[in-house]
Amino acid sequence: MNKHLKMDAPQPRVLDETRQGILGKGISRTEGPKKVSGSATYAGDNHPDGMAHGVLLRAGITKGKVTGFDESAAQKIDGYVGLFHGPKFIRNNAQGMADEAPVQPDCEVHYHSQPIGLVVAETFEAARDAALAIKVSYDEEGALVDPKSAPQEDQGGPDVGDLEADMGRADVTVDEIYTTEAQVSAAMELHGSVAQWNDGKLLLQSSLQMLKFNRNEIADSLGIDPENVRILAPYVGGGFGSKLGIGADAVSAAIAARDLGRPVRVIMPRQTVFDAVLRRTETEQRVRLGARSDGTITSIGHDDLVSNLEGEGFAEPTSQASQFLYAAPNRKMQQTVSRNHRTPSGSVRAPGEAVGMLGLEVAMDELAERLGMCPVKLRLQNVPERDPDSGVPFTAHSLTEALKRGAQEFGWKDRKANGARREGEWLIGMGVASAARKNMLLPAKARVTLDGDKAVVETDMTDIGTGSYTIFAQITAEALGLPIENVEVRLADTDYPEASGSGGSFGASSTGSAVFLACQSIREEIAAKCGANDFTLKDGQVTAGGKTTALSDLLDAPLSAVGEIEKGQTSEDHLSSGFGAHFAEVAVNEVSGEVRVRRMLGVFGAGRILNEKTAKSQLVGGMIWGIGAALTEEAAHDPRTGHIITRDLANYHVASHADVPEQIDTILLEERDDYANPIQAKGVGELGISGAGAAVLNAIYNACGVRVRSFPATPDKVMAGLDAM
Ligand code: MOS
Repeated sequence: MNKHLKMDAPQPRVLDETRQGILGKGISRTEGPKKVSGSATYAGDNHPDGMAHGVLLRAGITKGKVTGFDESAAQKIDGYVGLFHGPKFIRNNAQGMADEAPVQPDCEVHYHSQPIGLVVAETFEAARDAALAIKVSYDEEGALVDPKSAPQEDQGGPDVGDLEADMGRADVTVDEIYTTEAQVSAAMELHGSVAQWNDGKLLLQSSLQMLKFNRNEIADSLGIDPENVRILAPYVGGGFGSKLGIGADAVSAAIAARDLGRPVRVIMPRQTVFDAVLRRTETEQRVRLGARSDGTITSIGHDDLVSNLEGEGFAEPTSQASQFLYAAPNRKMQQTVSRNHRTPSGSVRAPGEAVGMLGLEVAMDELAERLGMCPVKLRLQNVPERDPDSGVPFTAHSLTEALKRGAQEFGWKDRKANGARREGEWLIGMGVASAARKNMLLPAKARVTLDGDKAVVETDMTDIGTGSYTIFAQITAEALGLPIENVEVRLADTDYPEASGSGGSFGASSTGSAVFLACQSIREEIAAKCGANDFTLKDGQVTAGGKTTALSDLLDAPLSAVGEIEKGQTSEDHLSSGFGAHFAEVAVNEVSGEVRVRRMLGVFGAGRILNEKTAKSQLVGGMIWGIGAALTEEAAHDPRTGHIITRDLANYHVASHADVPEQIDTILLEERDDYANPIQAKGVGELGISGAGAAVLNAIYNACGVRVRSFPATPDKVMAGLDAM
């Protein structure tokens, strides 16, 4: 009764024909009441009997070796249990998607505040005191913390046509450097784990995004069979990439719990999250654009310098969107990775696009300015017919529609010349940018069991605040004709079928497809039982050939099926991406350089929308991060040690209520991506951030004529530009 689909061909739009009206509807999150009432148990809410508390001990140097620990003062602290340090302890797995475990030995320090051990005590406070009391000795080595002067590795990139020659003959060119600062995910829920062992089996309750990978990672770290690991993560308070892979909290809790024979909990305090969780790299981007005077772009160049520790596989794919967003016969992207001793970098919401589109889309604004052309028109004129790199066709592609619709709804025609709109000391301007985020399909499985008029969905998929519980219930209710209350969704237990996990915006569409396929299998079984292909399911009843029968009469036992999806030929011969357009209006204070975002609109084409409310929340959340990226967010590194010094939510400025306008709206275009998956949906979690900050930055320029190229555009930078005018 299982149904496996390899996406080798476009699939019929079954969910347009079930006509229950449940899928797509903006239903509030089904687990919402549990969260607001405090009864949803996050990792750190678990208190198994006899639990001890661990605090991560972190390196006080940037580079070198640990030569010893002096525990004598810690041992005098009431409730001190011990210090744990061992191999495979310290690293937050780089990409999370990779199936490899942390391997660096604990005695080596590669970045400041790296976890080097776990201090365990009867209470959190005692463990924290003990961690402060332990003296660590080191053999210190010289560290390289400046990405510009550290060794650099050339990683190449696409090179088509002849960019240099074309730039020489183009009518109008842009050749500018843009820089972005490091960022930190700053998920609301702190990273944490509770580990307990029973009979050689580990039960890990942790805050993670990708359980099937995480299970292998932790098993590998501990040298045990993945069969002996069970992970539970029913509620996760945000991840944004920082919880893709297991962290030092999970590994250290598991080691200490095994050695002590009692459960151990490790929650990273906020500052440790900043210190020890993968950050988004800073970037330096050189964007080159060449165009004919009619606005036809002939050259796109996007070189970038990013950073990571030596030996880490991840490098921010900064030019990802530049490779397919606009047409141009001459294209060159070149990536360079600086190997330095800053905190290791990894995936943070929309790795690649989130920062790369700040550079590209501000450069597009500069090109429009130099051409004397409307920036919306410039973009419309250069939308490619096919993927410019591979030549394959796009799947559903709504960039043109999004730009046009957005310009109309936002009132783009009222945009004035630079600096021409003023309200007292405030200068007002509008900006635009495209949005794009590649769409992916990952292998996923889910089980659905139908018993009369009730269904249960089981998969190890996580819901990291994105709406998995709700949309899987909607898919099932839609496909099986049930009221949504009759569908119970059980997630994030590695005993359930292996899902895609939450990452790369592929979760809803990949695992949602698996849920759909399981339902399809059940529908086929029902069709066979009632001997009709044309039937309607509603409220636990099947109607076929004018006859309505209760499913409980038709079936002698509950029906259960596992659906399984994997990518196939359609992702080879097509390019699937979400597209959209961002519009922003800002006010710039000419006295202080302060920028206030007044309103924002994002128009998106992301395939079938599974839940209008959760999709909009995701997209608006991304746009808000765009405001932070454009104006305030900076993980500043101490130039001596590389240590992140803006390491709490007071000093690391994510956009908060006061920074976000009342008017921040989205329009979701009607779209179906037949090549993406059998539910025709694409990702939304990362599409909203991709390009959003550039619209804000371009609006600053229109407001006051100051072009900031070093982001975030803090008041000092805006002021310097105003002063120079
Ligand atoms: Mo995402 S940055 O793949 O969680």
